Amino acid sequence: MNAEPKFKSSDNMNASHAQNAPAFCSVWDIHAYYGESYIVQGVSLNIHEGEILALLGRNGAGKTSTLRAIARLGNPTLKHGEIWLDHQPLHNMQSYEASQAGIGLVPEDRRIIQGLTVEENLQLAQIEKPIGWSIDRIYELFPRLGERRKQEGTTLSGGEQQMLAIGRALARDIKLLLLDEPYEGLAPVIVQEIEKTLHLIREQGITTIIVEQNAIAALNLADRSVILDTGQVVYDGTAKEVLENEELRHEYLAI
Ligand SMILES: Nc1ncnc2c1ncn2[C@@H]1O[C@H](COP(=O)(O)OP(=O)(O)O)[C@@H](O)[C@H]1O
Ligand SMILES: [Mg+2]
Repeated sequence: MNAEPKFKSSDNMNASHAQNAPAFCSVWDIHAYYGESYIVQGVSLNIHEGEILALLGRNGAGKTSTLRAIARLGNPTLKHGEIWLDHQPLHNMQSYEASQAGIGLVPEDRRIIQGLTVEENLQLAQIEKPIGWSIDRIYELFPRLGERRKQEGTTLSGGEQQMLAIGRALARDIKLLLLDEPYEGLAPVIVQEIEKTLHLIREQGITTIIVEQNAIAALNLADRSVILDTGQVVYDGTAKEVLENEELRHEYLAI
């Protein structure tokens, strides 16, 4: 295995970005399968440190599968390609190793642990060192979690469970936050509340990939965007351009 990705940064970053230095996170030509089903068909993307990338595309385009492949979950199976995070190769890792290497995946179903309080859910995330944000800092970001610290996590509202799932990721020392549809199934007023906190998290410079059906909200948060269609990249550029390009939005996002 080479010590560095086989490719050079192909995006239109300005020349001040160290000469062809690999991005903080580089996904290169990944191909992933569910059994025989060929789903992620050669996806490449680069993310620079502190950047937010909106990974968009219609339902079934392969967004969740791409996040799962990056997080090295067993399904889908990665059969080709490389994934690098802060100079570490992730492509041969198991999910627990990718997690130790700094991947923080907040899955669509949030996975709050049953029988544990809000605080215990957060404490559990900090069992292994190195730890990330302190629990007090997480409560500062999400005051509702602080108010409900003694409540069982699974009895929280959908929006609060989403806050807990994000808080739990931040409680670990992560290098890349992967958010899969953080606004899904939430009332507009709660979406706004979570949106506000994501803007606060953004100010902390946490490198993030956000997948969202609410593309406008994701694009307003993001620096850049990658759009997938049938498991392939059809756009890689600035979030602003997607917001301004009606044709592109219409064709691949149906908005
Ligand atoms: N566990 C699975 N087994 C087989 N096919 C799957 C599985 N999960 C997703 N798929 C298929 O992979 C494709 C991409 O799904 P997904 O990555 O969830 O898309 P998105 O998140 O963009 O909506 C879809 O055609 C979906 O039916
Ligand atoms: Mg999905």
